[in-house]
Amino acid sequence: MIKTELEKRNVPDFFEIDGKKIDSANAWKQYRPYLKDLFLSEEYGFLPPKIEPSIKIEDGELNFADKVTWQTISFTFENQGKSHTVKAELLLPKDKAKAPVFISIGFKAEIPNKYLPLEEIIDNGYGVFHFYYEDVTSDDGDFENGLASLFDGGGKKWGKISLWSYFASRLMDYLETRDEVDKNNVAIIGHSRLGKTALLTSALDERFVLTCVNESGSCGASLSRGKTDENETIVKITDTFPFWFKESYLKYRDNENALPFDQHMLVSLVAPRTVVIGGAYKDVWADNEGQFLSAYLSSYAWELYGKSGLICENKMPVCGDKYLDGDVCFYLRGGSHFLSRDDWQVYISKFNELLKR
Ligand code: GCU
Repeated sequence: MIKTELEKRNVPDFFEIDGKKIDSANAWKQYRPYLKDLFLSEEYGFLPPKIEPSIKIEDGELNFADKVTWQTISFTFENQGKSHTVKAELLLPKDKAKAPVFISIGFKAEIPNKYLPLEEIIDNGYGVFHFYYEDVTSDDGDFENGLASLFDGGGKKWGKISLWSYFASRLMDYLETRDEVDKNNVAIIGHSRLGKTALLTSALDERFVLTCVNESGSCGASLSRGKTDENETIVKITDTFPFWFKESYLKYRDNENALPFDQHMLVSLVAPRTVVIGGAYKDVWADNEGQFLSAYLSSYAWELYGKSGLICENKMPVCGDKYLDGDVCFYLRGGSHFLSRDDWQVYISKFNELLKR
């Protein structure tokens, strides 16, 4: 049943290079840098060079019944005579000497907000390091504001997703300096366009133990090939959001079969760490079947490491299916496009499981 659906999608075997299947973890590790570059040069664009930001720490106001330590951390980046500051909110459970943390790439600056049930996350023993993505740079075609203004080549060399991702990795750099953080247990989470960003970040940056990709859809976890009329294609996404990508990605408009990869290969770059791909039943735009097949196909990379990828039934997913036992997880909850409490509960329970290993 899955095979039939895959045949319709016509996805080449991208684990086969020049007629030879990648057949060991070593061969895969050698291929990874090339594959990363391919995604950057063809789709997202290259991330700017790493700059050490200067850092300022201020105490936050609220304490959530005295359960939370809240600090606002300001990161100031300087380059080419310009500077830009981005704030991120670090909230840690007071009762933990070393807390596992979610880096949250947020649609909202406020804490908590409709996508971030903060108290519940803290009560489960996790810290949150949250930033509002448009503080990094605006979500439009203006490459002259925020961090975008510090680096040349916006559009030609890199798109906005790369820049949001760049900042998420700088937060990880910072967490590594904090004793109250369990730096081997840092997850990254994002929803929708920020799910795309979370996935790219973890594909490039191997320090995240868990990657939570919520309803990322087109140019996120979902396959680009074989879309239906109701799904978001490369034409549709680049009609509205061309600036998310490098300009050269436009050559794949209505030309998906020319892509030298499909999105499951981006998921594969997360191996052997754990990824959870969340879908919502009514979110047809995001192509849930394509997200499921991507989880399924990417699993080969985990198998190369002797780990289990997606553990699922041999059928296409229906509403309510949850495949959370492997290191590639997929679930399809009821309802529409949203980062809900239910989604957080899935990500938290997987994180709990990882901490017990
Ligand atoms: C639009 C866009 C999607 C994106 C979503 C979001 O619907 O077409 O690709 O994921 O916005 O970020 O909310």
